Amino acid sequence: MQQMILDVDTGIDDALALLLAVRHPGVNLRAVTCVAGNASLEQVVRNTLTVLDAAGAGDIPVAAGAHRPLLSEAHSAAHVHGADGLGDLGLPESSRTVVPLHAVELLRREILASPTPVTLVPLAPMTNIALLVRLYPEVLDNVERIVFMGGSASVGNATAVAEFNTWHDPEAAEIVLTSGAPITMYGLDVFYAVTIPPEDIVRLAASPEPGTQLAGRLLQHLVTVKGSEVRVAGDGHGDIGDAGAVCAAIDPDGLSTTHLPVRVSLADPLTRGQTVVDHRTAGHDQAGAGDPLFRRIDVALGINSARYAKLFLDTITR
Ligand code: RIB
Ligand code: CA
Repeated sequence: MQQMILDVDTGIDDALALLLAVRHPGVNLRAVTCVAGNASLEQVVRNTLTVLDAAGAGDIPVAAGAHRPLLSEAHSAAHVHGADGLGDLGLPESSRTVVPLHAVELLRREILASPTPVTLVPLAPMTNIALLVRLYPEVLDNVERIVFMGGSASVGNATAVAEFNTWHDPEAAEIVLTSGAPITMYGLDVFYAVTIPPEDIVRLAASPEPGTQLAGRLLQHLVTVKGSEVRVAGDGHGDIGDAGAVCAAIDPDGLSTTHLPVRVSLADPLTRGQTVVDHRTAGHDQAGAGDPLFRRIDVALGINSARYAKLFLDTITR
């Protein structure tokens, strides 16, 4: 059984990721921690609890974490995720409540309590994870791998060069990426590739089963929004976004990664939040692969998108 924890800013694709993690038979979702990102912290918590209801989740502990980035001001992503962060679908409030712990304390408790090393899956700005690493670095001894959705070895989405999660809290991303933990970067280079065809979206949305229906309705919203993204095929397919990172955590053989030095741009306003991925080989004369500050992590540059789309659909409709 894979011990897993998700850190989310539930939004639409975080919701798809939660549905997948809750329903996969090989995953023990030990906890879910919330952070401001796509929506305010309060809204993210409400959305997360609502999605766990629809997923038919058991008593999975949920905790609220940082309400803003370490240094930057919080930014909204309502233009993608809707005013409520879940596509303004009018979903019912959950009767679930958060545990009376800060997210960092819940992360520490659940990581240290796990009988086997935990796979930590940040799907949001990494403010909670950075605070965890700085407050309790010893917990990394029981972290199998951090598989995070964020960054890009190519172009950005929040800005021309920065992906939303690393752009939202660049300092947090830099702290995590230089923590020394085994890390997989599931960035924009693969993020949009795992898509669900229109006929499957219709089938999901027509399901009487709440979690399956929610997945379909969320994908339908994404299709209407993503059609405006020049990079995403406007052919009615809906990408599963963050849920692809959970697929990569469950089935890493579906991902093609390269072990590369990565830093996060902090000071330059033009590139702030960019993950600077050094593709050069060693032995060159500029700062990079030879620079001790550049930590090598596993950067996803290729993906078996059909394999992950099948994993997602098979699991969601179980
Ligand atoms: O850039 C995409 C990321 O930003 C996803 O995690 C999405 O949910 C938003 O948080
Ligand atoms: Ca997210």
